[in-house]
Amino acid sequence: MCGIVGYIGKQKAAPLIIEGLKRLEYRGYDSAGVVVLEDGAFNVAKKIGRVANLEGEAARHHFHGTFGMGHTRWATHGGVTDANAHPHVSSDGQIALIHNGVIENYATIKKFLLGRGFTFKSETDTEVLCNLIAYHYAKEPPAAEGDSRFVESVRKALHHAEGTYGIVVMALAVPGELVTARKGSPLILGIGDGESLVASDVAAIVSRTQNVVYLKDGEIAHLRAKDFSITTVASGEAAAHVIDKVNWSIADAELGAYAHFMEKEIFEQPVALENAMRGRFAEDGSTAQFGGLNITANEFRGIERFMFCACGTALHACMVTEHLIERFARMPVECDYASEFRYRNTPLYRNTLFFVKSQSGETIDTLAALREAKRKGYKVLAVVNVVGSTIAREADGGIYQHVGPEVGVASTKAFTSQLLIGAMLALYIGRMRDLSFGDGVQIVNALKGAPDLVRRVLQQAPHIRAIARRYAHYTDMLFLGRLSLFPIALEGALKLKEISYIHAEGYPAAEMKHGPIALVSEKCPSVFLVPNGDIVNKIISSMQEIKARKGPVIAIASESVELPAGLADEVIRIPECHDAVLPIVAAVPVQLLSYYIAVERGCDVDKPRNLAKSVTVE
Ligand code: G6P
Repeated sequence: MCGIVGYIGKQKAAPLIIEGLKRLEYRGYDSAGVVVLEDGAFNVAKKIGRVANLEGEAARHHFHGTFGMGHTRWATHGGVTDANAHPHVSSDGQIALIHNGVIENYATIKKFLLGRGFTFKSETDTEVLCNLIAYHYAKEPPAAEGDSRFVESVRKALHHAEGTYGIVVMALAVPGELVTARKGSPLILGIGDGESLVASDVAAIVSRTQNVVYLKDGEIAHLRAKDFSITTVASGEAAAHVIDKVNWSIADAELGAYAHFMEKEIFEQPVALENAMRGRFAEDGSTAQFGGLNITANEFRGIERFMFCACGTALHACMVTEHLIERFARMPVECDYASEFRYRNTPLYRNTLFFVKSQSGETIDTLAALREAKRKGYKVLAVVNVVGSTIAREADGGIYQHVGPEVGVASTKAFTSQLLIGAMLALYIGRMRDLSFGDGVQIVNALKGAPDLVRRVLQQAPHIRAIARRYAHYTDMLFLGRLSLFPIALEGALKLKEISYIHAEGYPAAEMKHGPIALVSEKCPSVFLVPNGDIVNKIISSMQEIKARKGPVIAIASESVELPAGLADEVIRIPECHDAVLPIVAAVPVQLLSYYIAVERGCDVDKPRNLAKSVTVE
């Protein structure tokens, strides 16, 4: 969740690091800090609030060194204060550390260190780990060649650290070297031209190099400007690595003409969908094909049920996929919050195929669910956007979303591409079973048409913005939908509360009368998703129940749905479409509505309070 950037090279480090931190600010933004080793001392600047605050503070520090590291924090241990911000420096002044994750046994270690004369300025678990490294560094005998005691002291400290970490360490006595290690928190090495970088996210380093090494859990890397080595934390043995090439450039992670990344990413959706489906339809035009599932058609036919786990928006995508697999493949599917699954001890049938979905590929609960399923001997496939992420690497196979970097904390283009891939998966599974060639062709054609349908919805942005202006002052809102649009109602409510702080609930439209209807009054509008289908009249009845209680109604309705006069106060039309595409098309107006309401309320859309893009702590 926190952002990490480290640099060793010939350029001035601080501006480069701060620039990298700005690109990571979406991961966490309570406070930020930077340290540069210069003139034989750690020059540390840290400040609560956004990276812009740190920039102001940094100006007073006159940074000029070419070797340092920086951090954006999303508080776990200790409040949001300058003292708790990273980097932390050990009380003997020898070691500086930045850390993402949680050291669970920090209290025991702290007690041990207090007994040995170490002192603490913050309430953080990070400062404890920093002092523990300093303790081992002081004890470690100097090596005959080079200063391997730097790496060894980090390794020894990590042997005693329980919990999760992605860390970068500097030692006062060893300028020009960084030691970095991970367990549960992503770290990427950037191999530049005469310079080395490390970051928690490719976005922070892609402006300097596209050559990266994804560090694995349990590895420790030793970086210098011109070389690096990777060993295991456990034994110190050399670890094999490959240098990967990042397939996107810095322009993909820039705002361009848009006001916010969320807006940019909503409008990128037609192209994102095209990218997610490219090359993924079979030649006969009746089914989907995926390159990386790593499961044979025969094995697939032996599967009798599916289990999907994810968090947040990605879980809503799983719920839509559940609906479509049941529909196209007539197979049982279960969905669960990854955070619940990991502790629930769910009985799984023998021939269950396990799926996880995660934009970032780093969400710790989703990763834990994946590991739990694998431990039980199940094959786990993943739908992931970030290439090389932990979930992508640990899954037995999967499908990359290929939608490029998603920066806005509220997920949009990653969501609709997960919906698309879910529909393609349902088609693929269906075609292995009873779904006919003709039905398959229809679905393929419908999916191919999805980007243009989304373009049509996007053209209504000014209309949706005008509605948002009229509704931005409300404090409660309901989102109601049925069948495959129930998860879209959940997603609408989640989007609205995430970015505008309006209390919102998503409910199955008919279930609303068993509770949420008590909230309905002229002060609580309801957003209804009204596709044309078998139960459209039932949905209209639910709308009437709201209207009878003076609740304002916003209808997101298919073009062909005839709404009784006066029933809806506002109507947003969506194009007629196949059921496989309907959730994608219906998701766009709820995204736009939430976005414009948040803008209207003056909210910081891309960095909503308390949230983080990628949640790597439990
Ligand atoms: C965080 C984000 C959500 C996201 C969820 C799962 O809570 O704020 O937008 O849906 O994590 O993220 P993932 O990367 O696993 O899809």
